[in-house]
Amino acid sequence: MLKTLNINYEEYNGVDELTAADRELMEQAAKAAAGAYAPYSRFHVGAALRLADGTVVCGSNQENAAYPSGLCAERTAIFAASAQYPERRDYESLAIVGINENGVRCEASPCGACRQVLAEYEQQQGHPLRVVCYVNEGCVRVFKSVADLLPFSFQF
Ligand code: THU
Repeated sequence: MLKTLNINYEEYNGVDELTAADRELMEQAAKAAAGAYAPYSRFHVGAALRLADGTVVCGSNQENAAYPSGLCAERTAIFAASAQYPERRDYESLAIVGINENGVRCEASPCGACRQVLAEYEQQQGHPLRVVCYVNEGCVRVFKSVADLLPFSFQF
């Protein structure tokens, strides 16, 4: 039997259309990108994770000469939050933005490995973690849940 899965997401015509809270989180993600260590790709990514209590934990991509040893901004942020605040593993929203080598903001959609990691924290907390992705000057996408970005995720 053929089955169809639909994904719902919101698209905004730029950061100005976001709520103040999401706009602020996106600005924090952009600031966090300055902490990227990306001498190989020269592509800086910033991620800002807002916890349920309002605390924001940021991350940026960290590369390594042994390429697979590096880590994306999204996992850097959520692993840092989980490690620093294990008693507060309650995540509300994650904003992500890329900054290219010309300093221009650009799209950063979470990679498959990051989706899997984010999905597990979302499943553990039992309610959705929103994902706010910068696309370009005139487009920001908001996913209401990580599950929308990774249906049929691996669970153990
Ligand atoms: N990267 C992220 O940090 N997040 C993403 O969503 C996609 C890719 C990083 C990994 C690598 O350091 C650089 O961007 C180029 O792939």
